[in-house]
Amino acid sequence: MKPTPMQTIPLKQSRTLRIEILRHNPADPDSHPHLQVFEIEEAETMTLFIALTEIRQTQDASLQFDFVCRAGICGSCGMLINGRPGLACRTLTRELPDTIRLAPLPGFELIGDLSVNTGKWMRGMSERLETWVHRENIEAIDIDAVEQRMAPELAEQLYELERCIECGCCIAACGTAQMHEDFVGAAGLNQIARFRLDPRDTRSDADYYELVGDESGVFGCMTLLGCEDYCPKNLPLAVQLAFLRRKMARQGL
Ligand code: SF4
Ligand code: F3S
Ligand code: FES
Repeated sequence: MKPTPMQTIPLKQSRTLRIEILRHNPADPDSHPHLQVFEIEEAETMTLFIALTEIRQTQDASLQFDFVCRAGICGSCGMLINGRPGLACRTLTRELPDTIRLAPLPGFELIGDLSVNTGKWMRGMSERLETWVHRENIEAIDIDAVEQRMAPELAEQLYELERCIECGCCIAACGTAQMHEDFVGAAGLNQIARFRLDPRDTRSDADYYELVGDESGVFGCMTLLGCEDYCPKNLPLAVQLAFLRRKMARQGL
């Protein structure tokens, strides 16, 4: 029923949140990993990013965590939220229980507390997989050919795979990536799928096989599917992985 102007709309009962944060500063020799507990009053539409900012402003200015955009675009606020990878800025506290345990994403260099160096990992992967458009003979580039129009359907397919924000959630959610540090993960294989589709890239399937036709690439993936389950951008990772595996298996024959 629509409220009259005199009626008040009851707010959802507010909660005191118990936020347990795994803290450690690897740059400090006296620091040891430990859980620190904070309590804050939940506010309507509070995200984990807002909760962490409030803790840093009112309780502990030394708390480290990353953010830039606060809108699920930059990929810097990934962390383990009650054991599952996710973005702090896109997670509402009301979707979580009263006790929330936060830890840094595993599989990346720890900077401190909830801050990890996903940028270093992504750059290493990018350099290794050469994630840029290759032209077979750079001197012979025909600018008109490079600028040729692309069919809208193909452009859309490329765009779909380019939505990756390099947050690292797929790496943190992947058992293979946790066991083998040279595994390029779903983020890397998604890049390969993207460049294979691009008609401007003149690399052949044999070239791609050289890059990812082994245990650190497509054949390291054990179809655990944590990557697809926890990708905050809902990228079609499982489909890409299966497609690449089929293609690479044929190359290896
Ligand atoms: Fe994040 Fe998804 Fe990209 Fe992995 S594929 S880095 S989970 S956006
Ligand atoms: Fe890992 Fe995803 Fe494969 S979770 S094992 S990359 S299906
Ligand atoms: Fe940019 Fe969360 S702060 S994705």
